[in-house]
Amino acid sequence: MSQTDLFSAEPSAPFPADAAAEHAAALRRQLHHHAHRYYVLDAPEIPDAEYDRLFQALQALEAAHPELRTPDSPTQRVLGQVLDGFEPVRHAVPMLSIRTETDTEPTGAATFDARARRELALGEDAPPLRYACELKFDGLAVNLRYVDGVLVQAATRGDGETGEDVTQNIRTIGQIPLRLRDGPSGGAGGLPAVLEVRGEVYLRRDAFDRLNERQRERIARGDKGERTYVNPRNAAAGAVRQHDPALAAERPLSFFAYGLGEVQGWTLPDTHRGVLDALDTFGLPVCAERAVVEGADGLAAFHQRIGQQRDRLPFDIDGVVYKVDDLALQRQMGFVSREPRWAVAHKYPAQEQMTTVREIDIQVGRTGKLTPVAKLEPVFVGGTTVSNATLHNEDETRRKDVRAGDTVIVRRAGDVIPEVVGVVLERRPADAGEPFDLYQRLGGHCPVCGSDIVREEGEADWRCTGGLFCPAQRKQALLHFAGRRAMDIEGLGDKVVEQLVDAGLVRTLPELYTLGVAKLAALDRMGERSAQNLVDALEKSRHTTLGRFLFALGIRHVGEATAKALARHFGGIDRLVEASVEQLTEVADVGPVVAQSLRTFFDQPHHCEVVERLRAVGVVWDEHDGVPPAEVLPLAGLTLVLTGTLPTLGRDAAKDLIEAAGGKVSGSVSKKTHYVVAGVEAGAKLEKAQALGLPILDEAGLLALIGPGVTEGHGPNAA
Ligand code: IVH
Repeated sequence: MSQTDLFSAEPSAPFPADAAAEHAAALRRQLHHHAHRYYVLDAPEIPDAEYDRLFQALQALEAAHPELRTPDSPTQRVLGQVLDGFEPVRHAVPMLSIRTETDTEPTGAATFDARARRELALGEDAPPLRYACELKFDGLAVNLRYVDGVLVQAATRGDGETGEDVTQNIRTIGQIPLRLRDGPSGGAGGLPAVLEVRGEVYLRRDAFDRLNERQRERIARGDKGERTYVNPRNAAAGAVRQHDPALAAERPLSFFAYGLGEVQGWTLPDTHRGVLDALDTFGLPVCAERAVVEGADGLAAFHQRIGQQRDRLPFDIDGVVYKVDDLALQRQMGFVSREPRWAVAHKYPAQEQMTTVREIDIQVGRTGKLTPVAKLEPVFVGGTTVSNATLHNEDETRRKDVRAGDTVIVRRAGDVIPEVVGVVLERRPADAGEPFDLYQRLGGHCPVCGSDIVREEGEADWRCTGGLFCPAQRKQALLHFAGRRAMDIEGLGDKVVEQLVDAGLVRTLPELYTLGVAKLAALDRMGERSAQNLVDALEKSRHTTLGRFLFALGIRHVGEATAKALARHFGGIDRLVEASVEQLTEVADVGPVVAQSLRTFFDQPHHCEVVERLRAVGVVWDEHDGVPPAEVLPLAGLTLVLTGTLPTLGRDAAKDLIEAAGGKVSGSVSKKTHYVVAGVEAGAKLEKAQALGLPILDEAGLLALIGPGVTEGHGPNAA
């Protein structure tokens, strides 16, 4: 039987006995393999929904052919398994699982309500049952044991009878109190002698994203043995069963309490709601999103309301849980096998599904970032149909080894963009594509504008260097260009840029300056007057400084301060455009990365063209930012050190003077110091200067060196 047949796992139209046995054995092998990946390694290869499908196929097959049911069949075992390395903990009260209803609304809720009423032998006229409704958190179940209010032990569920002692790791969860607060006042008298609290350890989605982001960085840095996690539940489970509590603590886990285990020395409330309220007063986190409702309609309304909020919750849920609220009725209903009759989980559509990759596309983002995206066979996941999923970046794509033709697990949780979390390697076709190589795939050029692409050292992303020239980056480039600290074009915000680009009115920066009132006034929510204001603002922005202009070009790594420093140093754009990487690094604060980025930018002829065309449409700047070009200043390129007290100039005045003359003031003397200016009581710095044989000036010497041009208006006698 081929793998494909196995995975199709269509349950059991009567099979010939041989084929059935073979099919059952193959399903069992698969299920054992995937259960190990899931429970022991916390690294599943297939989505839960797929596992469930295989499991149900085996169940159906065994039901049709009971002789095939082996004792080691996955269907004969409760989920979970005790890991080596943790002390086993026998649960005082078994940790049960819960029946799952997957039917969509309103059937799921109505089915449960009808069953509960039947089991309690309630007639048609009996009043509706009350139910406590909660979220079904997608994490790891734990039992917390408090003795006289102190946390003494925490255990996983394991197989329901015996779990693992994970006390050390659970202690690192800030939300879990190590000591309970004093109980509900006046109640049964303070804290229970023994209180076992059951609940779910989970990882918030933002914490999960940060964790994987960090893992990706570690992998990019070449850290061995690191990996990203498939989903928050696996990451949480991995953290709880981490052997080093410090590593467990690295993942900010959270906890919600939802029930009780063993209790001694405490009178239980009458209702489940009462239990949760009591846990809340004890200082345990209980999810606020809970309600007590009446009858099937109440359940259905809760299911629907939470379903609408699901994407906005800060953590994953895979459904809601309904529990008969009255504890006396719960006792009356009891259990069937290992599931209570008084509770049911009502699921939502799965957030992970399997599908196949048609091809891998590369998208250019607003900032020039190149992102590989898997084009998928459309699949319904997390409540919507998904046909694209991000692969994040080149390393991630290679690490997961995603190729065209592969079967992959797609995850869509919350309003996060869908992502490919892994490949099902068993299903890779013989003609699957090549391992992913972004540069090779693109031939080194941006797929949108053809500019060179680069990946800087230590960076995870390839980028298009087209910047303001690249259509994909147009909107971002225009917004940046218009920014207050750049060209300062008032009124050219998000909405306007959006429309200008979408309507094809502005394709390049220079075109901004050819827009007239008529064209602008035709835009949505614009009007004659705002259009005129914008034209005026554009007009005003034509006169700028070189620093602002350079910053406005949006050259990578060139922030405002760097742009200013470049303007002052080169004193004109033409010399800057021609400067070599070495010459560029002579500018204060310009290191090799910035220098290379400038060089790459001006090496693209279309960038120089944009600059020329901006000049042609009348953009002018004061080439030196109001400061004379560095070379003509008397102290340009010189570093001076001040020491001692000068006769007339205060320290600040002397420093201002030196800087106005183009010099730099440094705090320490070295071989690179050009002059030391010494006053009275000059100390160690003077000695060092003498030892190094540096020229030493007094105040008069300094003033003479600077000359009259700069000193006017700066001296101590300045008005
Ligand atoms: S009550 C006797 N309530 O779902 C009922 N379980 O199979 C015991 N879960 O592993 C469970 N949210 O970890 C209950 N609000 C909730 C829950 C919840 C998540 C998990 C639990 C257990 C599984 C039930």
